[in-house]
Amino acid sequence: MTFIKNIVGKFTGSESKNGWPGLIEAYKKWLPVTSQTPIITLKEGATPLIELLSISKSIGKGVKIYAKYDGLNPTGSFKDRGMTMAISKAKEDGCKAVICASTGNTSASAAAYARRGDMRAFVLIPDGYVAQGKLAQALVYGAEIIAIKGNFDKALELVQKMSKEFPLTLVNSVNPYRLQGQKTAAFEIIDELGNAPDWLCIPMGNAGNISAYWLGFKEYFEAKKSTKLPKLMGYQAKGSAPLVYNQIIDEPKTIATAIRIGNPVNKEKAYKAKAESNGTFDYVTDDEIISAYKRLGKEEGIFCEPASAASVAGLLKYSNNIPENSTIVCVLTGNGLKDPDCAIKNNDASFYTGINPDMKEISKILGL
Ligand code: F0G
Repeated sequence: MTFIKNIVGKFTGSESKNGWPGLIEAYKKWLPVTSQTPIITLKEGATPLIELLSISKSIGKGVKIYAKYDGLNPTGSFKDRGMTMAISKAKEDGCKAVICASTGNTSASAAAYARRGDMRAFVLIPDGYVAQGKLAQALVYGAEIIAIKGNFDKALELVQKMSKEFPLTLVNSVNPYRLQGQKTAAFEIIDELGNAPDWLCIPMGNAGNISAYWLGFKEYFEAKKSTKLPKLMGYQAKGSAPLVYNQIIDEPKTIATAIRIGNPVNKEKAYKAKAESNGTFDYVTDDEIISAYKRLGKEEGIFCEPASAASVAGLLKYSNNIPENSTIVCVLTGNGLKDPDCAIKNNDASFYTGINPDMKEISKILGL
């Protein structure tokens, strides 16, 4: 990809197999790091921007739609962009342990990077509402996991208190280094497209990522690396849409457990980003999320987790409003393998079990 060559041109190629050094090294001059910062990296970033051929075609009007597939980061979600920064800075400050609340992805990423940096990782999760793949990751990465009888919002309230009481660095998106790392996704999009897209469609939970993208788009625009700013189209799940209703939801509900959040901590930043970008926040139903999730899989060959599909569900909901010949990026925040239960329950595949190993029988079933 040309944008990787542009960025990586200055590296020797010895840093990793394909020469990508990880996002801190690649975007150093845009990030709050110094020569004293120990860089803790799993070579995150440089994720693919994939044109959604079938969905672009169905919308027509000369529109080009891309997916920024951040599920291909080292722990399978965009959180790694923020975590490489937050953990590197924590290490620089002599931190021995980090803490976070999580619907799953933050805990997986925090655990991976903290352990790599030789720190303890404490994670609080809502008992019974974290997808299997994410839980498996946190376990294998060696996190110390507390599943609470309560939702994400309660867990976040607790870890904020605990990080004040004890010598623990909080690595949720209230940690400003998280957003600094995550803004690099906007840089990558502009580096690859040569300009900002017209729209950025993105799922919102705690609203850190949308705020980070806006930071990145604005910085590149001010540096004249793009000639326009995108309209931010932020989507939440209908049963879990505090930013759409502008009110706290005490008992958020959605199949997309990653964004099952009723009181987003980055609310003010998100509203500011929406206003500055002349954007729109709206909800999508769980049925719309699952329908987009299935379409991405079977028409585009892209497997994302349900929360990520909210960006595409939102785009499809707004398809009549899309300007002709526009370029749109939908952020796919997490990998589909994170939530195998959802995949197995929601697909249109033909799956025949208990079949004899007999060609005649098999070809009959397949109608050959
Ligand atoms: N998509 C996925 C896959 C997520 O895991 C999250 C948040 C979001 C979207 C929303 O991003 O919070 O920055 O608006 N997951 C957090 C977690 C809350 O704990 O893993 P946001």
